[in-house]
Amino acid sequence: MSAPRIVAIPGSLRKDSFNRKLLALGVAALREAGADVDVVDLKELALPVYDGDIEAAGMPPSAVALKERIARAAGLYVSTPEYNWGVPGALKNAVDWASRGGGNVFQGKWGALTSASMGGFGGLRGLAALRPSLMTLGVYLLPKELNLARAQDAFTPEGALKDAKVHDQLVALMQALLERLR
Ligand SMILES: Cc1cc2nc3c(=O)[nH]c(=O)nc-3n(C[C@H](O)[C@H](O)[C@H](O)COP(=O)(O)O)c2cc1C
Repeated sequence: MSAPRIVAIPGSLRKDSFNRKLLALGVAALREAGADVDVVDLKELALPVYDGDIEAAGMPPSAVALKERIARAAGLYVSTPEYNWGVPGALKNAVDWASRGGGNVFQGKWGALTSASMGGFGGLRGLAALRPSLMTLGVYLLPKELNLARAQDAFTPEGALKDAKVHDQLVALMQALLERLR
């Protein structure tokens, strides 16, 4: 049986992002469990801001590439901060582009969500805002999620989670995603 393929997307563009760190740990757990993971870097992808006029002139190559990478996967893993209690614009923009251009690349995928923020709620309101968009596109989202509060204090300089229990929760969430794909 071939390894389940998962597309992983951090919702923050900045290089020292806590969500990139959290996602990297989740990706490591997925790979260790035998998954084939494709990490999409939205900074590298540099999608234009969604504009129906751009779409009417032809889907941008970056949007086509994003769609293809999502289409190739059976599962989706997103880790994102919340911006003003909502979904960061770059991530929502990526979901919007990937939902266009014919076909639904999200339909029927299983998805897991994590968040990290410097606040006390760990970005949970951002995930609450993201869920309806992914659900209307047909993603089966695991109800469990991990919200990492006060992320500025949560990692060692090497990028590990200081709290082993939180790391175990992350690994369990990734395993739950993989179980849906096997
Ligand atoms: C535009 C903007 C809005 C933010 N809004 C929130 C918020 O609503 N709740 C929160 O806990 N943190 C908020 N933050 C702080 C983020 O938690 C913090 O910048 C975090 O490090 C972002 O995630 P990252 O490290 O993955 O980039 C906001 C940050 C920015 C830049």
